Amino acid sequence: MSRRRKLSPPPFKTKTRTSSFLNKIEELEIDNLSSNGRGVARLNGKVVFISGALPREIVKARITRVKKDFMEADLIQVLQSNPHRIDPPCSRFGRCGGCQMQHLAYPQQLEFKKQRVIEAFARQGGIVLGGLEIIASEPFAYRNRVRFHRKKNSSMLGFRQAGSHEIELIDQCPVLVPSINQWLESTHSLPNSESIPVFSEGSDGASCHSDDDVFSITLNGKKVFLSNQVFFQSNLSLLPKLIDHVLDQTIPGLVMDLFAGIGLFSVFLQDQCQKVIAVEMNESCQKIADKHLGHNVERYYAPVEEWIKQNQTTVLDTVIIDPPREGVDADALESIKRLNCKRLIYVSCNPITQARDLKILKETFKINTATLFDMFPQTHHIETVVTMDKK
Ligand SMILES: C[S@@+](CC[C@H](N)C(=O)[O-])C[C@H]1O[C@@H](n2cnc3c(N)ncnc32)[C@H](O)[C@@H]1O
Repeated sequence: MSRRRKLSPPPFKTKTRTSSFLNKIEELEIDNLSSNGRGVARLNGKVVFISGALPREIVKARITRVKKDFMEADLIQVLQSNPHRIDPPCSRFGRCGGCQMQHLAYPQQLEFKKQRVIEAFARQGGIVLGGLEIIASEPFAYRNRVRFHRKKNSSMLGFRQAGSHEIELIDQCPVLVPSINQWLESTHSLPNSESIPVFSEGSDGASCHSDDDVFSITLNGKKVFLSNQVFFQSNLSLLPKLIDHVLDQTIPGLVMDLFAGIGLFSVFLQDQCQKVIAVEMNESCQKIADKHLGHNVERYYAPVEEWIKQNQTTVLDTVIIDPPREGVDADALESIKRLNCKRLIYVSCNPITQARDLKILKETFKINTATLFDMFPQTHHIETVVTMDKK
């Protein structure tokens, strides 16, 4: 670990044209991880991203792409290794696009995700987070919901390769729950489509749903209906903790559940709140939500940004927002700021768009807590729940 070398050229030297680096093999010193889990080095004043490399490593890598602001390189050899580097358990790691972090021990993955959120909030939102709790998951065999891709003109299934549309064939995957791995091994007739969704509650022998039918699962003692056609979280072992946290943070009374999906939070909120107002755009969620939501949940199927503009008059206790990766529309954020509500709970799977939105929301709401849920171990993804109170 002591072999530290000065790898950037001295400042008085004229910079080499970076296009001349293409296909060259370079020795690089990694000083950081990017938000999507790639090692970051510097070469000739430019950032170089290297998948599979870790901070405090010296690696040999081939430059594969040279752009105006950055370069990309393929890892060839680790010359000096990070003490937390481990052998990835999956032989497809590096080719398959599903995981990015299997080469880093799980406790350090959690640390990386904490830093990722702290940096995103500071850079995008001007927010300095104090204590930040992270709730860990089972690091493997956690994934209950998956979409396989079918190799052209065949019945073989796989995942997309990293940065490509090619299919990496899969017979077993260590992040999937045992029942989906068993399903992969068994023979079954597949729907005539390029992508095949599969959902399973997980344990050995549990049934797998690979069609469009509506089915139910039991979650925190309640029956929840869903289908492969609508959004649903994919880590059932951690989901009860996420739901409990959102319920704990909720001031009950009159609650709005925006971006409600099939009404996952509303299923639980309806028992402790006088009234819940759930808003969702995808009408496929409607027939599912009707199966598990009672009379005290008012359901609206419309884009949040349009609906919220017309519905500003009610006095609310809590508003929950759980938007897709892209975050919340700018007009909708202005409407949310004007809502007469005591508390706002923002659930997000993308700290960058969440921080961008919080920068606007913090003009009228004060951030209380931020809690991370590692819903996607071995990947760079993280779920963050931020609770805010009206100033
Ligand atoms: C991350 S999911 C959350 C769903 C739900 N809260 C859950 O936990 O299962 C985001 C949801 O927002 C919906 N959505 C996306 N854009 C929307 C919009 N502009 N207005 C309303 N709903 C939207 C999607 O259809 C999806 O169901």
